Amino acid sequence: MKKIAVITSGGDAPGMNACIRAVVRTGIFHNLEVIGVRRGYEGLIDGDFLPMDSHSVSNIIQRGGTILKTSRSSRFMTGEGINKAIEMAKNAGIEGFIMIGGDGTFKGANEFSRLSGIPCMGAPGTIDNDLYGTDFTIGYDTALNTVINAVDKIRDTAASHSRLFFVEVMGRDAGFIALNGGVGAGAEEILIPETSTDISELIKHLEEGWKRHKSSVIIIVAEGDKEGGAFEVARKVKEKFNHYDTRVTVIGHMQRGGSPTCFDRVLASRLGAAATEALIQGKKNLVAGLVHNQVVFTPIDKARKHKVDVNEDLIRISRMLST
Ligand code: F6P
Repeated sequence: MKKIAVITSGGDAPGMNACIRAVVRTGIFHNLEVIGVRRGYEGLIDGDFLPMDSHSVSNIIQRGGTILKTSRSSRFMTGEGINKAIEMAKNAGIEGFIMIGGDGTFKGANEFSRLSGIPCMGAPGTIDNDLYGTDFTIGYDTALNTVINAVDKIRDTAASHSRLFFVEVMGRDAGFIALNGGVGAGAEEILIPETSTDISELIKHLEEGWKRHKSSVIIIVAEGDKEGGAFEVARKVKEKFNHYDTRVTVIGHMQRGGSPTCFDRVLASRLGAAATEALIQGKKNLVAGLVHNQVVFTPIDKARKHKVDVNEDLIRISRMLST
């Protein structure tokens, strides 16, 4: 293998740059030529390639976002788009790919590799932490820290004004950010897509708190909660229980940006290097992950399709500690 490419796709995540750096420098260390694909799968279709050297990844380990840029490509989901991408990759002499991203990225990687025969390796880059085969995805820890910092600030206002706050965090299909961020911020209630939300039960808890003279409350709502986002849940609660002065805050894309934590930088460095060395050794269509602090490899298709269970004990603890 002489020439490989690195690509970031889907939603950006803090630590993607640290991972790009690891891939480029590991490749160069092993005497490979490394190409950066700009704008995710969109750039692959358009042949938007950038030769990378060691210097091109200097000073990026601390930066959020992705220097290669990213996209959610609908063209790549079409036969025409993927065939164009294969043609571009083959014409450029690319013999292997490192794809950094989440569920959608791995779906595309699997299909691309199947049709082209070019080996692809994945590094899990998403704030959602919803991929099987790794305890942590790149960007998740940084997003959690953003959430607790935001909720700590909101709590100042909630406590000063005796208010009830509904705080919406990201997680269209997964409640990891909500659950762990909620426990870390000491939230009174946490609503996640994996468990059913009972509005009358929620109101019962609020009434109990009100009777105990609880003057302020923080409720974390994952954006994918089945009862709706924070605005919708707040509306349903206010219809029946109106004792608190209520506000809604959506933290939104702040969770995707910012300088990665040390944990995410180290994780990205380890997984980027491991994925690249595995590619060189002839492995293909696997995602590098960290399980019990050891690097492990999981088939790409399994990493994205296999459902990740939420930690039931953490749900129990969060309820116990929030009374
Ligand atoms: O996949 C990561 C994620 O941050 C989800 O939690 C969120 O629902 C989605 O991306 C938002 O995507 P976009 O930036 O395309 O609106």
